Amino acid sequence: MERTCSRKEIDMRMNRRSFIKRTLGSLLALFGLSGGTYYYARYMEPDMLTIQEETIRNVKIPDSFQNFKVVQFSDTHVGFHYSLEQLEKVVDRINGLEPDLILFTGDLVDKPNAYEWDGRIVEVLKKLHAPNGKFWIYGNHDHGGYGTDVVKKKMDQSGFKLLKNENTAIKKGQDSFILAGVDDIMLGKPDMAKTLEEVYEREFVLLMVHEPDYADHAAAYPVDVQLSGHSHGGQIQIPFIGYLVTPPHAEKYVEGRHTIGGLELYVSRGLGTTRLPYRFLCKPEITLHTLTNS
Ligand SMILES: [Fe+2]
Repeated sequence: MERTCSRKEIDMRMNRRSFIKRTLGSLLALFGLSGGTYYYARYMEPDMLTIQEETIRNVKIPDSFQNFKVVQFSDTHVGFHYSLEQLEKVVDRINGLEPDLILFTGDLVDKPNAYEWDGRIVEVLKKLHAPNGKFWIYGNHDHGGYGTDVVKKKMDQSGFKLLKNENTAIKKGQDSFILAGVDDIMLGKPDMAKTLEEVYEREFVLLMVHEPDYADHAAAYPVDVQLSGHSHGGQIQIPFIGYLVTPPHAEKYVEGRHTIGGLELYVSRGLGTTRLPYRFLCKPEITLHTLTNS
């Protein structure tokens, strides 16, 4: 049965549309209505996949994990101007890096309730291979649009283990470190105490959180490194002006590395786009984190 919209919902939609139009208007104005720049931001840069190489240095990392390769990918938003063919290229590039561990930091498809789920996305993600496993966390778009169950089912079938307010030990011989994942901050039920249950301070702890600004809260816990996405790096960066689109909970830490007390935060620019199908001076990334204790 079709549901009629309330006045408030219509107003909200109108506001959102006018926000997008306004943003688009200022975008075009800033670009000087240059057709070439528009074409570049709409059709070229979103497809310029880059490998961002980062080092995670911490004395608590056990010797067995020297040069251990953790590959992070994030925010694919499949369906919103991001195709399975693009995802397939991502999978090939990740496998080419020969990662030890693969982490997905949320937002698999843009709108889970509108996406045509078939077996294809599973077939693509299943091809990812890492000897120490594949793990993921919920992003706001995974919970949104009634995606909570269907996204988990598809990720389960793809061989990805969900970390929802829980942790696991990543082992090599006698050594191990802690990989933890918290539920989505905006639409889930994050619980840091549960996430870090039975974790000792002497252990190296790598935490996945979709929304980067949560680092200010996570820094109060025994977490060494937080990996996040969600921001899309602002999607559009205008020289001398900055990030044009920063979602809630990604307004303070938009991309790259940050230190908050004893916590190191890394924010991926992610792969796809949402709301506006553009990227400008903000290329999509796969992140290769190499661990070292020296
Ligand atoms: Fe996202």
